[in-house]
Amino acid sequence: MLRDKAMSGLAAAGDEAALEAWRIEYLGRKGQVLELLRAIPDLPAAERPAFGQAANALKGELSAAFDERAQAVAQLKLAAELAAEGVDVTLPGRRPQLGRLHPSNQTLREIYGIFAAMGFQVYTSPDVETDEYNFELLNMPPGHPARDMWDTFYTTTPGLIMRTHTSPGQIHAMRALGPNRPIRVILPGMCYRYEQVTARSEMMFHQVEGLAIGRHITMADLKGVIAEFANQLYGAGRKLRFRCSHFPFTEPSVEADVDCILCGGKGCAVCKYTGWLEIMGAGMVHPTVLRNGGYDPAEWSGFAFGMGPERITMLKQGITDIRYFFGNDLRFLEQFG
Ligand code: PHE
Repeated sequence: MLRDKAMSGLAAAGDEAALEAWRIEYLGRKGQVLELLRAIPDLPAAERPAFGQAANALKGELSAAFDERAQAVAQLKLAAELAAEGVDVTLPGRRPQLGRLHPSNQTLREIYGIFAAMGFQVYTSPDVETDEYNFELLNMPPGHPARDMWDTFYTTTPGLIMRTHTSPGQIHAMRALGPNRPIRVILPGMCYRYEQVTARSEMMFHQVEGLAIGRHITMADLKGVIAEFANQLYGAGRKLRFRCSHFPFTEPSVEADVDCILCGGKGCAVCKYTGWLEIMGAGMVHPTVLRNGGYDPAEWSGFAFGMGPERITMLKQGITDIRYFFGNDLRFLEQFG
C-alpha cells in the first residue's frame, strides 16, 4: 500500500524540486518509512522481527528507486538544456543589410578618379567662409551686382557666411600651395544658397571646383581638360561647346555644354529641345584673383571651372527632382549601388 503510493509518486516527480519533496515525504527524518520503524516498539514482540525486516527492505527499495529516478531526472534536465542551447541549422539565414554610397558620393568618386588621372589632387576648404574669401578676393567687392548670382546664408557673426560656391577654395589653394609653384587641384564640397527649394534647385548641394595654375596655361588647356573629362564621364565621342558667359573671377568666362546624353543632340525634354546640356561654368583665372592668391599675372596664368555633381547624377540616372538627394528616403537611396 505505502510502497505502491511511494513508487507512483516517485514516477511522477519530474524535476529536482518534486524529487526533494518526495524524499522528505518518504525517506526524510519525519518521513513515512522512519515512522514505520519508530512504531516497532509498540508492536507485539512476535511481530517485531518480520515487521522490522519488511520496513527495512522497503526503505532499501525506495532509496534505490530514488537514486535511479534522480539520475534519470538529471539526464532529462541535461537533455533539455542542450536542446534549448542548440543551433537549429535548418533555420534560414538572415540576409545582411549591405550599406552603399550615397549617389552624390558615387559621382564624386568618379570625378576624383578622372581628374586624378590628369594629375589633379583633391584640396578641401571650409564650408563656413568669410565674405572676403567668398566674394571680395574673387573680384566682387561689397555692393558688386554680380553677388546677386549667389543668394547667401549669413551667420549671426558679421562677415561669416555659408559659402555659396567652392570658388573661395581657389584663393585658399593658391595661398597654401603657392606662390611660384604650379597648381592642379579639384576642390569638392558642399555649397549653400538661400533659395527657394524646387525640383531643380536645392539650398544645399555639392560642387567640384577645378583650378590649374602654371606659366603657360591657355584656354586650349581648359578645353582639352574639360573635353577629356566629359568623354570619360558621359561616354566617348561627346561633343563639347563653349558659350560666352560672365563670372567676376574669370576672364574670359564660359559655360561648357555637352551634346545631350539622352537624345545625342536631336532634342528631347531633358535638353529642352536644344540638343545640349550645360555641365559647368569655367574660364581663365582673372588677373586680380591670381594676384589675390599671391601669383603674379604677368608670369602666371590658369583656368578654373565649377560643376554640380547632383546635376551630373540627375542627368546620368534620369533623376527628375534634386530634392531626393537630401530627403533621406531609403526607397530612393537604395536604388543606387
Ligand atoms: N563658382 C561658379 C558658380 O558657382 C562656377 C565657376 C567656377 C565659374 C569656376 C567659373 C570658374 O556658379
